[in-house]
Amino acid sequence: MPLEKYIRDIQGFPKEGILFKDITPLLIDPKARKKCLDILVSSLANKKIDKVIGVESRGFFFGMLIAQELNVGFIPVRKPNKLPYETISATYDLEYGTDTLEIHTDAIQKGDRILIHDDVLATGGTAKAVCELVERLGGEIVQCNFLMELTFLNGRAKIKGNEIFAAITY
Ligand code: PRP
Ligand code: MG
Repeated sequence: MPLEKYIRDIQGFPKEGILFKDITPLLIDPKARKKCLDILVSSLANKKIDKVIGVESRGFFFGMLIAQELNVGFIPVRKPNKLPYETISATYDLEYGTDTLEIHTDAIQKGDRILIHDDVLATGGTAKAVCELVERLGGEIVQCNFLMELTFLNGRAKIKGNEIFAAITY
């Protein structure tokens, strides 16, 4: 079955007017999950990756699987006040207001080749903030990698200049 079959549309979540893409059917099915992981990993061909970033919270699921598959380190980028050690943070715009993401300052060494993973590329605000964190710590972004890209929101434009891959596009 194509991967799309494992993404469930939920109308009106978390609020009216939003069509939510629910990845839990993909998470619960080991075969589909493996197929998805293989697609994400093969998009990297023979690119050298030193560390994988997973973005809290839904980027943690496949971010960690990819890191395990590549046998490299995993870095959590988290919402504010969750990381215990010294952090830097980046703030980005939401529809109403702003949000912030943080990373440990010792997570990336200068020149580290970084894969950024999240579940969805929507407006691109989240991914852009993560790119900024990586760049500030001297990391090199090899690819921004997503389960899905909502192309009609044009998130790509916000992180242009980076290689972008999505297993599913809508
Ligand atoms: C969702 C999604 C992506 C982000 C994409 O996360 O998981 O991380 O939004 O949106 P953008 O491209 O418009 O920035 P959310 O902040 O809802 O948190 P969650 O992953 O913890 O559910
Ligand atoms: Mg998220």
